[in-house]
Amino acid sequence: MKIQILTIFPDVCRSVFNESILKRACEKNLATLNAVDLRRWTSDRHRTVDDAPYGGGPGMVMKIEPIDQALSEIRCPDSKVILMSPQGRPFSDQVARELALETDLIFLCGHYEGIDQRVADNLVDDEISIGDYVLTSGVLPALVITDAVVRLIPGVLGDQQSAEQDSFAEGILDHPHYTRPAEYKGWKVPDVLLSGNHKAIAEWRKETALSTTRSRRPDLIKPTPTST
Ligand SMILES: C[S@@+](CC[C@H](N)C(=O)[O-])C[C@H]1O[C@@H](n2cnc3c(N)ncnc32)[C@H](O)[C@@H]1O
Repeated sequence: MKIQILTIFPDVCRSVFNESILKRACEKNLATLNAVDLRRWTSDRHRTVDDAPYGGGPGMVMKIEPIDQALSEIRCPDSKVILMSPQGRPFSDQVARELALETDLIFLCGHYEGIDQRVADNLVDDEISIGDYVLTSGVLPALVITDAVVRLIPGVLGDQQSAEQDSFAEGILDHPHYTRPAEYKGWKVPDVLLSGNHKAIAEWRKETALSTTRSRRPDLIKPTPTST
């Protein structure tokens, strides 16, 4: 899978790509992650990517020309170009799994007041929001999505099973995890986890995952259809 983040803050991406699981995914050739500096497609002395909004008002708006030229150069027929936008469809585990099936993703990051609307209308395939709040730039959302997608690529996590047991994979939250010591400051690990009884451990994990989901995220529990 190839992911390119088109941004005016490429160094932010590079520092993230060079750590931990994303770095290992690249070393194992399971992912190619590129930070692409949008200012490469500017020609003036100040490398300008923004201008004042038509109609007046505060802030600056990102111009369409550098974005169009950049996309013409870096996209290929298989590319899916996704605009980071608080107005996009909400990101979720399900959307991450959908994107993990793609081979070539380009995340376009806005800044300032946003991007000339003609970009969203004509140059991108999708718009995604990472939540109902506004960040100063699209680079963090693009990195959040990159991280969530890359860890789903088979072979990226040490044990792929862990991605299948994490919160949301089966529609509910994960069960609690513990490690040594068995007791710390009087706080004990549940006895069942020390019992060696794998069936009892599996049942406890399922039950605690369900009870955590019921108390914290009841919206995730689908009502069972009642017969009339
Ligand atoms: C300050 S925001 C622009 C917000 C825009 N004026 C609005 O209210 O919809 C600048 C850029 O940050 C990114 N951004 C901010 N919040 C985001 C979010 N929740 N999800 C995805 N991208 C976001 C987008 O790329 C956006 O173009």
